[in-house]
Amino acid sequence: MTDILSLLVKHHRNGDEFAKLMQDTADNRFDDNFWSLWEKWIEPVLGKHPKIADLGCGPGALIKRLRRRYPTAMLTGVEYAPYMLKALDHAESEVVIHDLHQSDLSIEDNSQDAMTFIHSVHELIYPTRALQSVYRCLKSGGRCLIIDWVRVPLKDYLSDSARMYNQADIFSDEITHTQLHDVFHHFTEHNRYTTEDIDWLLDTVGFKTLERTIYQNKQFALWVVEKQ
Ligand SMILES: C[S@@+](CC[C@H](N)C(=O)[O-])C[C@H]1O[C@@H](n2cnc3c(N)ncnc32)[C@H](O)[C@@H]1O
Repeated sequence: MTDILSLLVKHHRNGDEFAKLMQDTADNRFDDNFWSLWEKWIEPVLGKHPKIADLGCGPGALIKRLRRRYPTAMLTGVEYAPYMLKALDHAESEVVIHDLHQSDLSIEDNSQDAMTFIHSVHELIYPTRALQSVYRCLKSGGRCLIIDWVRVPLKDYLSDSARMYNQADIFSDEITHTQLHDVFHHFTEHNRYTTEDIDWLLDTVGFKTLERTIYQNKQFALWVVEKQ
């Protein structure tokens, strides 16, 4: 059995620092475009006291914003990494400690108005169980918003100014073997699935895709899908 926690620790480098980075950069992920998308596709399916589950919720940046927006909502954060669980405010949502590779997610069938899966699918070695859980837990007509990295060529991946290393760096005499290992390790992890891979997975699980957008130099994609 693969040790998922060791893989996560390697991917996140320093867990506590990564949890802080997720908090510090949250306004970029949950910006005006995010909330416009939310109002267009997710808000219309929310009940009076919405039930929303956030998969791979990290330190709870989205949960915190949802709690402000929907004070009476039943929010659930699903997370597995101990350093994320430590950073999460357990008063703001139910917290389910769960490895998303497993199928026994303890959320009731057909219970959720909406679910979110933000920048977490690329961290899963196999996302089938998690996507099947989303389908099982959503109400009929419930919607899931997925946003994530998708596969791009190495040249484009290294041209993003947010990268720790750029195109020239990987050929430089200065870069160490450890740093090269880190660059290429993260390249494969951030490039795990193509947009078409996710399309196919979502179709096969049974979702209807309502919106699909590829953006920021084709590095990211978002989907709004509905349980039929
Ligand atoms: C890049 S972070 C994004 C966090 C959060 N969604 C946000 O946007 O602020 C990805 C999160 O998914 C979680 N994650 C990755 N693999 C997981 C798994 N197998 N089970 C549960 N959570 C997982 C990580 O621990 C991490 O908190």
